[in-house]
Amino acid sequence: MHYVRIFDTTLRDGEQSPGISLNVEEKVEIAKQLERLGVDVIEAGFPQASRGDFEAVRAVAKAVHGPVIAALARALPEDILKAAEAVSEAKAPRIHTFIATSPIHMKYKLRKEPAEVLDLAREAVALAKKYVDDVEFSAEDATRSDWDFLCQVFAAAIEAGATTINIPDTVGYTTPEEYARLIRYVKEHTPGIERAVISVHCHNDLGLAVANSLAAVTAGAGQVECTINGLGERAGNAALEEIVMALRTRSDLYPVRTGIVTEQIYRTSRLVSVLTGVSVQPNKAIVGENAFAHEAGIHQDGVLKERSTYEIMTPASIGLPESRLVLGKHSGRHAFRQRLREMGYGDLSEEEIERAYESFIDLADRKKSVSEKDLLAILEQRIAQIPEYYTLETLQVVTGNRALTTATVRIRRGEEIVQEAACGEGPVDAVYHAIDRVTGLTVNLEGYSLQAVTGGKDALGEVTVRIKDNGNLYTGRGASTDVIEASAKAYLQAINKMLHDRATIGREARTGNLDAGGV
Ligand code: KIV
Ligand code: ZN
Repeated sequence: MHYVRIFDTTLRDGEQSPGISLNVEEKVEIAKQLERLGVDVIEAGFPQASRGDFEAVRAVAKAVHGPVIAALARALPEDILKAAEAVSEAKAPRIHTFIATSPIHMKYKLRKEPAEVLDLAREAVALAKKYVDDVEFSAEDATRSDWDFLCQVFAAAIEAGATTINIPDTVGYTTPEEYARLIRYVKEHTPGIERAVISVHCHNDLGLAVANSLAAVTAGAGQVECTINGLGERAGNAALEEIVMALRTRSDLYPVRTGIVTEQIYRTSRLVSVLTGVSVQPNKAIVGENAFAHEAGIHQDGVLKERSTYEIMTPASIGLPESRLVLGKHSGRHAFRQRLREMGYGDLSEEEIERAYESFIDLADRKKSVSEKDLLAILEQRIAQIPEYYTLETLQVVTGNRALTTATVRIRRGEEIVQEAACGEGPVDAVYHAIDRVTGLTVNLEGYSLQAVTGGKDALGEVTVRIKDNGNLYTGRGASTDVIEASAKAYLQAINKMLHDRATIGREARTGNLDAGGV
């Protein structure tokens, strides 16, 4: 069977989603999970965009050795040199360079003639080739480009050494039939195409990103670029989990295989959602909360008699945890470790297991039954830990519908414990004011959301907050059966991330804002 490479760009195009900003530790954590998932290529970032992006690509290149590690670069020497440096320690490095080829981009954005664009593409690939063997070239806005010009640019890129040529639907404009025709046209009219892998990269502006990617596979694409949970610019990129499960479920239509370990899909989706702070819509295909829920009586009856009546995939095939009760507060470490292994977390270190076990005992004391979803929430709290400048010790809130709300917090700062009290418009506001008094920081709260992890009155509440500092966004998350405590933990985590960033990369903007730079 023809092998289709999965190129994951969650850390690059996905991170370009509004409101998302991941730090180096979080990117490494996601990259390690993408390795477990079995992706072929991880696009780890755009090194020239910012110092944070450069550091993250470098760190991923050092930490992850299975997949190819790609760095994005405009067709500019400075970008290519930065990308080359960032991936220099990768076991399998790739430079991914791009330039726009559509009349609209060339005229208004680049202000260049097609012949100049052709030269820049050739020169960029040739320069990248001096540093790495594996060079990908993308013709930005390919689907609105002249097809013959596109083939000319691809031929020049291949002649200069490109091993993958990418045909992006940058603005999500194409349709499955048209995209498949374009892929076939490129295959037939590009000299040297047999020496390169054809890649596709679809955006979801018309909701067609996955359908377009699948049509491209039928037309012979050998690499699909996608993101976890469909994150990405504007309406997002094609969702990895949807493409992979469509290929698997309809293998009768798509005689291809991928290297994806589908049982790792749910864990990956959760991790990305937790670290980006972008929740997955309940009806999202494959990984949404309701994707395997059956509400209607007729459906429930059918599923009870025979699952395949209303289920085309099993929850187990994506590694969905079961909502059954897992363990009680008397469960020992051995049983706990065994359950983690069954949930696909056999790779945790002794220290991580011990910390998770302590949190589990703490939760089991407060909550009657602890499910796999609760356990997952505990494990996720332990992910990508950064130094805790401030830790919540205790909090106390006095509130009422006609009373002024007051909060007192005790917070550990290094060796000392600091206590402060404040009033506010409700308990969360009061707690946040009290925390601000402890830290002495002026925090811009950009977003706050609260979700229940499971059902029931004693459900674990999960709070996500977003704060902004000097143009950088920081996401914090906290989980507890007490939503005020979860809110305090989330706020402190976001503050800790902000302080960690200030201590490591200074106060410069972590997320860059490059323009086309003449290309
Ligand atoms: O959408 C796009 O065109 C891109 C390229 C840089 C590949 O993301
Ligand atoms: Zn894109």
